[in-house]
Amino acid sequence: MSPARVRSTTILLLAGLVLVAVALAGWSLWTMRNLESRAVPISTQIATDETDPAVFGRYYPLEYDSYRENSQISRGPSKYGGSEPYDRLAEYPYMKTLWKGYSFEKGYNEDRGHVYSLEDVKSTPRSPTQAVCLTCKSADVPGLIRKYGEKYYSMPFAQLSAEATHPIGCSDCHDPRTMELRITRPAFREAMARRGVDVDRATRREMRTYVCAQCHVEYYFQPGTSKLTFPWDKGFDPEEEYAYYQDLGFHDWVHPGAGTPLLKAQHPDFEVFQGSVHQAAGLACADCHMPYRREGNVKVTSHWWTSPLRHLDGTCTVCHTEDAELLKQRVFYTQDRVKDLLDRAGRALAAAIEAIQRATALPDADAEPIRKARDLHRQAQWYWDWCSAENSTGFHNPQKIMATLGKAIDLAHQARAAALAAVHAEASPGR
Ligand code: HEC
Ligand code: HEC
Ligand code: HEC
Ligand code: HEC
Repeated sequence: MSPARVRSTTILLLAGLVLVAVALAGWSLWTMRNLESRAVPISTQIATDETDPAVFGRYYPLEYDSYRENSQISRGPSKYGGSEPYDRLAEYPYMKTLWKGYSFEKGYNEDRGHVYSLEDVKSTPRSPTQAVCLTCKSADVPGLIRKYGEKYYSMPFAQLSAEATHPIGCSDCHDPRTMELRITRPAFREAMARRGVDVDRATRREMRTYVCAQCHVEYYFQPGTSKLTFPWDKGFDPEEEYAYYQDLGFHDWVHPGAGTPLLKAQHPDFEVFQGSVHQAAGLACADCHMPYRREGNVKVTSHWWTSPLRHLDGTCTVCHTEDAELLKQRVFYTQDRVKDLLDRAGRALAAAIEAIQRATALPDADAEPIRKARDLHRQAQWYWDWCSAENSTGFHNPQKIMATLGKAIDLAHQARAAALAAVHAEASPGR
């Protein structure tokens, strides 16, 4: 070959290589783009008031397939959570003493998947009487609130639950026309507004938590109207929620043995999460509970809301370099210690109740020392229940849960000591 031909062949070869490289880079960029932002064709054919998940499923079959996995019933790799509705009253025997006289002593099972929400509220031995108990259980509720206005909350449960046909569904979190995330529960919107937050201006990241915070929170029913309300005006900490209830003079029931006006805490998952290492690092509920999955070439958000222990790979390992087994052991390390403290607080409360019961038999059952014992009991039980009712057995915020349980144990012992002091003073009045 002449030098000139060698040169032109080399140029051709180089040009060829460059072309191949450009094509390769383009192809991989294209596939990456497809994986990163799957362009979901948005259907505008779903009616704005549609509540049936199966109808959404015709347009979004991949998300719907994962939604149907919520019907799985098993404890899976969980030690304390999972989707098997095991009897928590049997696992935590002191609960019956603590909740004496309240509906929870009749039955309290571990929660299960979203698809069972309606069935479970209709069949609970706690026998709800008012429609307000449907509010976080059915996709039909926003429609019922539109239909009946605020009367909805206090209407008979039996009447309205007959009008609710679907469990938690797509329309609870998505606008059917645009599939944008949205807030459908007035209590969340109103509680945030009282805190100066307009949820309609929330970022996408915030919405990945806010949609869950419509239901996974502490709440109470306003006396008189039964309107569902979140006690967040002073803040999200258990002390701040307690102060809110103190201002209101609110109690859920009076313990028949001890005579204490008590509060029942309800799954404050959103509040517990505030201030945790993961919340501070900017994570949302969906980051651990709705991981991305690859279906062929597309990235789909899993709609199987379950224990992350079932899929640590693809959830925690997106950020943590440790292997899944080690991360699972870290979860158990926290939960085992939280369970121990929950039991210590629970047993200390049961002992306090027994002592107050003895003091209540005294001639002056309303004397100052006994009132003081009841006040300490009310606080201790609130702090214990706040930790007991949250769903992660402490993982969502180990520091806050441990501190709160420490307070519950201290207050329960103080309550018992105050009651016993009253009993002893009575037994030996000379002293
Ligand atoms: C509890 C709230 C909630 C419910 C109920 C819900 N979704 Fe989602 N959905 C989300 C969240 C959070 C995302 C992630 C959105 C984001 O990051 O922008 C999402 C994303 C999506 C997307 C965007 C594509 C993707 O996979 O990321 C589609 C489509 C979708 N959901 C369909 C459905 C369908 C169909 C149903 C009912 C079977 C449903 N969703 C029920 C919260 C919910
Ligand atoms: C409309 C109310 C509502 C919304 C919105 C909601 N949940 Fe739930 N969630 C519930 C109820 C009620 C249950 C318990 C159902 C049962 O036991 O019958 C539950 C149960 C769960 C469980 C336990 C499932 C199991 O198998 O043990 C997880 C995990 C969960 N939700 C996560 C989430 C996450 C994450 C979000 C937001 C993306 C969310 N939920 C949004 C009401 C809601
Ligand atoms: C950093 C990851 C992470 C984040 C973020 C997170 N969770 Fe969890 N969540 C967990 C782990 C781990 C468990 C414990 C699961 C177990 O015990 O099997 C759990 C348990 C739960 C459960 C009970 C599941 C069961 O099996 O019964 C619910 C409900 C829940 N979380 C809701 C939420 C909500 C609501 C948010 C946002 C406010 C949230 N989680 C944020 C990791 C996370
Ligand atoms: C989006 C990123 C992200 C995901 C997903 C995530 N983490 Fe983390 N995690 C962090 C960051 C950031 C920290 C704080 C800095 C650090 O310790 O690396 C942290 C800290 C921790 C810690 C130390 C907590 C403490 O109190 O110091 C544990 C344990 C942990 N994560 C476990 C998990 C588990 C288990 C999961 C899955 C259920 C998970 N993480 C999911 C980002 C993440």
